[in-house]
Amino acid sequence: MHRHEKIWLTLSSLMIIGFLVLAGYQAFALELGPPSHKETIDPQKVDETAPFNEPGVYQTGENEYEVVMIGQVFSFNAGGDELVFPAGSTVTFTMTSKDVVHGFQIAGTNVNTMVMPGYVQKVTQTFDSPGEYLILCNEYCGSGHQLMASTITIE
Ligand code: CUA
Repeated sequence: MHRHEKIWLTLSSLMIIGFLVLAGYQAFALELGPPSHKETIDPQKVDETAPFNEPGVYQTGENEYEVVMIGQVFSFNAGGDELVFPAGSTVTFTMTSKDVVHGFQIAGTNVNTMVMPGYVQKVTQTFDSPGEYLILCNEYCGSGHQLMASTITIE
C-alpha cells in the first residue's frame, strides 16, 4: 500500500472514532440525547388503563397542570374539560391514541408530535403569553381529519 494511502486511512479512521466518542459522550455523559419517553399501552384497553380511564385536566403544582388526553377519530378527548390555564402555566400533555396515528401540534409553539396507538406520548409546554392556541391534528387520520382540532386558552 502506498504510504500516503496509509496515512489518510489512519487519519480518517481516527476521525470516525473521535466523532463516535464525542457523540457517545454527549448522549450518555451529558445526557444531550433527543428527548424521549417510551411507555407502551394496550391500544384495545385505553378506556380501562390509568390515567386514560379518566381523561381530563389535573392541577399538579402551583403553576403546573397535566392534561390526560386521548386522540381518537376525529377529536382530542380531554374528558370534556376546557383547556384553560393562567399565563405562565406549565402544562404536560399525556396522550395516546385509541385508533390510528394522530398528530398533536400547538400552533405558535414548538410542540409538534405524533400520538400513536400503543404508545404513551408526553409533551410539556410553558405558556407565557395569554391568548388562544390552536391544537391541530397534522397526521392524516381519515375522512374527518380536517375537523380534528381543539383550543387552549391562556388567561
Ligand atoms: Cu387525527 Cu388527523
